[in-house]
Amino acid sequence: MCGIVGVVGNVNATKVLLNGLNRLEYRGYDSAGIYVNSQDGKPCLIKRVGRIKNLEAAVPETLSGTQGIGHTRWATNGEPTVANAHPHVSADGRFYLVHNGVLTNAQALRNEYLADVDFASDTDTEVAVQLVARFVAEGQSVKEALRKVMQLVEGSYAFALADKEDPNTIYVAKNKSPLLIAKGDGFNAVGSDALALLDQTNQFIELHDEELVVLTANSINIESIDGTPRERETYTVDVSEGDGELGAYPFHMLKEIDEQPVVMRRLLSAYAKADGSIDMPSELLDAMKQADRLYFVAAGTSYHASLAAAAIFEKMAQVPVSVNFASEFGYHIPLLSKKPFFIFLTQSGETADIRQVLVQVKKRHLPVLTITNVITSTLAREADYALSLHAGPEIAVASTKAYTAQVATCALLAKALGMHKQVAAAADWNLAHDLSLVATAQQTLVDQKETIHKFAKEMFATTRNAFYIGRGSDYFVSLEAALKLKEISYIQAEGFAAGELKHGTIALIEDGTPVVAVISDPVTADHTRSNATEVEARGGKVLHIVTAALEQKGDELVVPDVNPLLAPLVTIVPGQLLAYYASLDRGYDVDRPRNLAKSVTVE
Ligand code: M6R
Repeated sequence: MCGIVGVVGNVNATKVLLNGLNRLEYRGYDSAGIYVNSQDGKPCLIKRVGRIKNLEAAVPETLSGTQGIGHTRWATNGEPTVANAHPHVSADGRFYLVHNGVLTNAQALRNEYLADVDFASDTDTEVAVQLVARFVAEGQSVKEALRKVMQLVEGSYAFALADKEDPNTIYVAKNKSPLLIAKGDGFNAVGSDALALLDQTNQFIELHDEELVVLTANSINIESIDGTPRERETYTVDVSEGDGELGAYPFHMLKEIDEQPVVMRRLLSAYAKADGSIDMPSELLDAMKQADRLYFVAAGTSYHASLAAAAIFEKMAQVPVSVNFASEFGYHIPLLSKKPFFIFLTQSGETADIRQVLVQVKKRHLPVLTITNVITSTLAREADYALSLHAGPEIAVASTKAYTAQVATCALLAKALGMHKQVAAAADWNLAHDLSLVATAQQTLVDQKETIHKFAKEMFATTRNAFYIGRGSDYFVSLEAALKLKEISYIQAEGFAAGELKHGTIALIEDGTPVVAVISDPVTADHTRSNATEVEARGGKVLHIVTAALEQKGDELVVPDVNPLLAPLVTIVPGQLLAYYASLDRGYDVDRPRNLAKSVTVE
């Protein structure tokens, strides 16, 4: 949520900031702004509401400088207006600040320290920059002033601060919100996501909570909140999995849907060995073997992936699994089993709801594995174990390839755990072969875009609501397909356990109500078909998505057969494409749906 980029040194700061903001726009796009200390020594602040292109249009081509900070915003405090856009500037015009996160005691600090200051915005951020100016005016150095702000504020923050009287330095601070330092040749930079700066360098330094950094072109000085110096090595970010460029595609979502077969194969080469066994860290398998229950904790799409994953773990590793919403679990921890093991499934690795659970779980000294697409993320770093999804950067807000990578990675881990526990079903499972079939099946479906587009037109062109129904893993896919549809097409969509419709919700079916029936489970196929027939009898318009082995005359969309445990990896693909085309045909910005952001770093 929100993106930060900042740079100091021998570069064209304007260019670095605008490139970085374009790459970060997926994190928030209500408004954007940059501050550049320009070459002629004049500070320049430009902010615009809406997309980065509005900001770009307002930036003079001649503007360049060697120090700058920029921000793309997802509004938390205050509406998306120019006044509320970042960077915020202190009343004396000296300090400029960008901020990700939420300062929960901003009003109290304003009352206590800044009652005499005229504020220009409704944001919590402005309190921080006004406080820096106040403490500097009282005689503190800029660094000490920022440190005092860190000590006073409550909540989460990633700050980048520029002082117009010192064009050679940027001050950085972090607590709970993600922030990285990028080390360049003749310059140094800061970003909320490595992606923002990958066109400049692949050398990064992670920051820990409550750290303050003083950045110049040639130095990076990290300190803890109490002033203790911290040494930290750089690490190299691997760009081989793609750098999130759009290429010839109109939208990232379509590109990411198309990448799914490649991701399946990449996961096989990362985790599967030639002899059919799965390469997972032995300490991780030993720890999981001790567990009497696995607790998945996740949100949104990752929660839906967890549901599919749980079924695979129960069958292949013979371990009970519970799947939990992170936002509920952290504050209402249920009675835990004697030997719980936690799995945080998260594309971004930064979801604040999960971080809250991590804090609780760590207090109890319980083991945690994070499975994430960003192996350098906070949740990966702070867990006992971490596994990568190898999906490459996922830019579209609507998650697609991360979902299928999550289910596939969990399948690989479940097989490894099952073999470690000598579960016969796991030993007999030729998962590498099954995942290859999945990749081929996904390819068959992404090659049928025209057909799926036609169904999207027939089903969703004008409707205000829609249903996806299924049983077992088809129900889990229904939840995910409905989420995709609602987040980018704004159609009110529900994923429903097919058998539950008749217990109340069928009252909503009327002439023409679109209902997609997902049928891949041989055990319940006939029951789901009956539920679909009940819908049709009440005027509902049904689209059957059915695996080849279960096909019946009149089924509209037949998908290739795969191992039923892996069916979600295939049946979701038409769901993703239906949502994509529904959004496209309604003229929406598929990649940047309203009100949402890619990485949800507030609770
Ligand atoms: O980064 P995470 O996987 O932890 O994010 C969880 C959800 O915010 C995310 O899956 C969200 O639901 C997506 N926009 C769905 O497409």
